[in-house]
Amino acid sequence: MRRPEGKEMSKLKVLVVGSGGREHALALRLLESESVAEVVGCPGNAGMASGLGVPDGKSLRVQTGQPEDVAVAEKVDLVVIGPEVPLVDGLADRFQKLNLPCFGPSAAAAQLEGSKAFMKEFCRRHGIATAREVIVRSPEALEEALAQFSSPPVVKADGLCAGKGVVVAETMEEARSAAAAMLSGDSFGSAGTTLVLEERLLGEEASVHALCDGERAIILPVAQDHKRIFEGDRGPNTGGMGTYAPAPVVDAALLETIDRDVIQKVVQGMKADGVPLVGTLFVGFMISPAGEAKVLEFNIRFGDPETQVLTMITEGDWGKALLAAAQGRLEKGDLRVSEEHAMCVVLAAENYPAAPAKGDKISGLEEVAALEGVRVFHAGTAAKENDLVTSGGRVLGVTAKGPSLAAARDLAYEACSKICFRGMQYRKDIGYRAL
Ligand code: AMP
Ligand code: GLY
Repeated sequence: MRRPEGKEMSKLKVLVVGSGGREHALALRLLESESVAEVVGCPGNAGMASGLGVPDGKSLRVQTGQPEDVAVAEKVDLVVIGPEVPLVDGLADRFQKLNLPCFGPSAAAAQLEGSKAFMKEFCRRHGIATAREVIVRSPEALEEALAQFSSPPVVKADGLCAGKGVVVAETMEEARSAAAAMLSGDSFGSAGTTLVLEERLLGEEASVHALCDGERAIILPVAQDHKRIFEGDRGPNTGGMGTYAPAPVVDAALLETIDRDVIQKVVQGMKADGVPLVGTLFVGFMISPAGEAKVLEFNIRFGDPETQVLTMITEGDWGKALLAAAQGRLEKGDLRVSEEHAMCVVLAAENYPAAPAKGDKISGLEEVAALEGVRVFHAGTAAKENDLVTSGGRVLGVTAKGPSLAAARDLAYEACSKICFRGMQYRKDIGYRAL
């Protein structure tokens, strides 16, 4: 939609939907943009409510309530939706009906993340390289599907499962029982009654993000996440224990191939299929030892904690760029990759990811605020009387930038050493593959 005459010159008020470290990072990065005057987080988090890190003359507030109601009451100019669940549920379509520019895809386009079967069929149709798969739609079809794999396949529930719907099985028996539990509805309800069995790929993972306007895409620096809870990539999967960017596993030549053979094909394919993709395309890749990239997954939102590093090392006006994407007029150069490196180390609560402890007092943040080049993004925190306490699994994302990855790492860990809460755990080896 066109913004009202006369508003073109005034500064933007942006609604950021979500409450994690990703949304805190987006809010602060938007406020650093020349075009943005105000950000409202819905529901936001304690870090956003604290106002820490907000540039002079700018405003960051939080509001609870339905995002549509808040957007209308606050008369925002742009909505940026963080998490996948509201996107798959059609939140962006509701903003479309309200004629409000929204950075985030329609429910139909969000199926790229919302359904693994949809994603695999899309890749086949548009010639995008991904692991060989068999889609299973009933318990009766399971044995025949398993028989098509000579080694244990990866088992993936079709729908959204908060990052828990993928089982990388070590044995056929493990794959069979994980698949059977999903198909019966016991594991994930209806999200698991269709599933994808997939050939297991070997190599190193990489996260590639692009801003999309339905027709064009701008690629951001390549990041690498660390999904396992323990050092050396051991222990259970988590939402992500740390990231860094740029990740050298994808060099400039491979990134060009990825842009041409995956990113552009997705954007053009979605457009051709009548469901243009507006928002973030975040592709999880497996890079083989021979340097070939295959798609593991599509996400239609920013990664968390990838966003924490990406916002630190891109130059340009994020407010303008996200508004341009929402309005279908993105231009190359709206955002540029800086020469810097960034690292985010996640400080997690005791017993994360199983049953994270809550209510522990957090200290040391004032001291870290004085460190140049460091940002602490909040996720599982809450204000309690005059204290800040833990309230979720991934508590804080301690993020630093520097002229090299080693410099960013040293600064990030220096900051981590100043923060304290009971049971605090974090990986000391973020970035080990690149360092
Ligand atoms: P997904 O949500 O599909 O990205 O899967 C979550 C995680 O499972 C990925 O980040 C990988 O670590 C792992 N994974 C998924 N698919 C495969 C595969 N085909 N081969 C090996 N690992 C996989
Ligand atoms: N960090 C992985 C994700 O956001 O899906």
